[in-house]
Amino acid sequence: MAMVLPKLKPYHRIATLLLSSTIILCLYFENSGKLFNNNHRVSEIDACVYRNCSPDQERTDWFSARYAPTVQLLLNSRNRALRPDVWRWWRGLQKELYFHNYTTVSRKLFPLFPDKNNYSDSHPNRGRTCAVVGNSGNLLGSHYGPLIDSKDFVMRINKGPTKGFEVDVGSNTTHRIFYPESAMDLDNSTHLVFFPFKILDIEWLISAFTTKDINETYTYVPSTIKANKDKVMILHPEFMKYVYKNWTENHGRYPSTGFLTVIFALHICDEVHVFGFGATKDGNWHHYFDQTLTPVASESHAGDYEYKTIIRLHRENKLLMYKGWT
Ligand code: C5P
Repeated sequence: MAMVLPKLKPYHRIATLLLSSTIILCLYFENSGKLFNNNHRVSEIDACVYRNCSPDQERTDWFSARYAPTVQLLLNSRNRALRPDVWRWWRGLQKELYFHNYTTVSRKLFPLFPDKNNYSDSHPNRGRTCAVVGNSGNLLGSHYGPLIDSKDFVMRINKGPTKGFEVDVGSNTTHRIFYPESAMDLDNSTHLVFFPFKILDIEWLISAFTTKDINETYTYVPSTIKANKDKVMILHPEFMKYVYKNWTENHGRYPSTGFLTVIFALHICDEVHVFGFGATKDGNWHHYFDQTLTPVASESHAGDYEYKTIIRLHRENKLLMYKGWT
């Protein structure tokens, strides 16, 4: 049966049209708001991080089975001797070519760089907020810049630039994490957090600030860099092994620089906000600043496992993961 519509006067028609357009617009914005929360920023459903959620027992067990509060974080003159198990694992990452004498090389470190016990200041009221910024292409279009810059520490990895990308990645950098093959110049106030994957890396660090005579590892590397020598910190090989055993659970050959940084942040920060992690749909690590694509499942890193672990940490309310835009 055909529906009989009442005959409306012209101004009634206009009013009805306006009313229905308003309803449609309201429904649209309500839904796009939900999409924005779930996909663009972070899943608000999962995240009750830092909002007094009480995680259930299983979740607490998962985290505490992995988290070792007393692990060595950074090298200094008192902890530079390596435990035999740490030495064996770390040496296993290196090619024969790079077998230099660790004891001799590490002895040169602390007359040169600050010999401190950095970040041993954990305290319930410290409240240090940190942004860990990976290099994923999902940062493009995200508008995370102001949010990233609002954190006390902004930790950037390898060559991830800020210039030209400020809206999406911010402009502050308090810590830059790199190794010789991904080194770059820093300004005077930025902490250089050096990740040594081999003894030659430590030799390069010393040389870069002194003789400047090492310009090759397995590839060409800069013989020197601009950076503040008094802001240099060196990741402890024990920490690398710990992340490999406890957090990537022996997947890949060793953890990626980005994943090591996330776990490092968990140890030195009271709130960890993670940006710029995540591959393309077809499984490649892409960058917000260039066109390179590296398969996530490489011989070296278990990118997929690392990503899942970060998501789990987010669900456990130990960090807040921002998934980006693309
Ligand atoms: O590519 P690069 O190693 O410089 O990126 C820094 C870190 O960011 C990586 O070690 C990885 O943990 C993370 N990353 C990611 N997804 C991408 C690109 C990088 O998770 N698409």
